[in-house]
Amino acid sequence: MLFKSLVQSGLLVVAGLSEYASAASSASSSSSSSDSETIEVVGNKFYYANNGSQFYIRGIAYQASVSSQNTSFVDPLADGTTCKRDLPYLVGANTNVVRVYALDNTSDHSECMNMFKDAGIYVIADLAQPKVSITTDDPAWDIALYDRYTSVIDEMQQYDNTLGFFAGNEVITNSTNSDAAPFIKAAIRDMKKYMSDSGYRAIPIGYSANDDADTRVASAAYFNCGEEDEIADFYGINMYEWCGDSSFKTSGYQARTEEFSNLTIPIFFSEYGCNTVRPRKFTEIAEIFSDDMTDVWSGGIVYMYYEEANDYGLVSEIDSTSVKTLSDYVYYSSEMAKISPTIATSGSATATERGLSCPATGKTWSAADTLPPTPLASACDCMAASLSCVVADDVSSKDYGDLFGTVCGEIDCSGQVVFCFELVLRSSRQ
Ligand SMILES: *[C@@H]1O[C@H](CO)[C@@H](O)[C@H](O)[C@H]1NC(C)=O
Ligand SMILES: *[C@@H]1O[C@H](CO)[C@@H](O)[C@H](O)[C@H]1NC(C)=O
Ligand SMILES: *[C@@H]1O[C@H](CO)[C@@H](O)[C@H](O)[C@H]1NC(C)=O
Ligand SMILES: *[C@@H]1O[C@H](CO)[C@@H](O)[C@H](O)[C@H]1NC(C)=O
Ligand SMILES: *[C@@H]1O[C@H](CO)[C@@H](O)[C@H](O)[C@H]1NC(C)=O
Repeated sequence: MLFKSLVQSGLLVVAGLSEYASAASSASSSSSSSDSETIEVVGNKFYYANNGSQFYIRGIAYQASVSSQNTSFVDPLADGTTCKRDLPYLVGANTNVVRVYALDNTSDHSECMNMFKDAGIYVIADLAQPKVSITTDDPAWDIALYDRYTSVIDEMQQYDNTLGFFAGNEVITNSTNSDAAPFIKAAIRDMKKYMSDSGYRAIPIGYSANDDADTRVASAAYFNCGEEDEIADFYGINMYEWCGDSSFKTSGYQARTEEFSNLTIPIFFSEYGCNTVRPRKFTEIAEIFSDDMTDVWSGGIVYMYYEEANDYGLVSEIDSTSVKTLSDYVYYSSEMAKISPTIATSGSATATERGLSCPATGKTWSAADTLPPTPLASACDCMAASLSCVVADDVSSKDYGDLFGTVCGEIDCSGQVVFCFELVLRSSRQ
């Protein structure tokens, strides 16, 4: 049989696949050191891996406006000058996490990452960028997204202070588009596998949701349900319910805490800081880090560092070496200085069954439990299983059709055959 003889010839010629092979082998040299101060997830909380002490997110959203309307963006971790400028203000606000929304996968991030690491600051990075993201109206999980996401992971996994990744931000906006959820969850599944296959540290990966009354409970359950290899490692919710002077009960925090109390993964505010009452005095901070909430919530990320037209800033930028603090910064840092949440230890975390049962579908939730396939799927898998896909020199390109027809005829190729076939042709021309 044609396929058998090709395999035996022992040549690696599929360009796209050989890239994956080299990524995997270079990863094994950068194995994760156990004494590093990485953050890990145990049960529904984050912990320092070195000593098992609980880690609460005291975060700031750290990127000048990125939006789907404006596809150009400035990578906040690519310029040591601005990181150096901002570091004292982050530290001055008791910050241990920055959230970045879009990274340039061709930039070097070492200067900012190392500077932040020395200050005990971790990074949670969205894997998308405005031009390459899982969209609300036309969701997909395809090769372009897979390549984008893995390229950010390749870059950021080098740093012990990479805390986590978001596979999507507010992709589901309401009950009319919850069918986008399986694409995000497929991305989570595939990136978990990619990190494992590449020998990287298992960096936590989750989703950042909006706070939609119809979908929020089902959405959290959905990302927390199913098999271990597809469960999100954490869940973020962008939360603007506490405005001005409020309370646990009036704000809605109490009801949310009850609704999310049965999650088995960490949940936190991936954005917070309602600004309908200004200046913002951030009275919610004392509540977020109080015993009312800390058994369920792992802190939050205030929106946001930079002052822009939407009036959410803590500081306004003067130039690349100076910023001016605003009154929100003063209130925010003063509240953050006062917190002293109860600290759990990972050793005392009780083992719970991780996968909740998936939410029922109905009027307000329509996401299928069955996830879309891995983009490089079936057809490529059959060749790449051992990363030893081979095509013998003496196979003429007109036989490729037969070859892949034969091989892939035995599996469900889900429309991927053409892609793999093209990879082979491309490499055979080199
Ligand atoms: C655990 O380690 C972290 C990181 O080094 C440190 O900030 C924290 O204070 C330690 N906690 C305890 C209880 O030793
Ligand atoms: C788009 O974003 C870039 C980078 O942040 C910025 O320089 C530019 O002014 C923005 N354009 C518009 C039209 O807002
Ligand atoms: C950056 O991401 C794009 C996909 O968005 C990918 O095509 C490209 O190869 C990546 N570049 C690097 C240097 O990883
Ligand atoms: C649902 O979200 C979409 C996209 O964000 C929006 O266009 C639509 O108006 C929303 N529908 C409802 C009923 O809120
Ligand atoms: C958690 O429990 C509440 C109350 O029993 C329930 O309404 C909700 O659906 C559950 N949430 C999740 C995420 O399973």
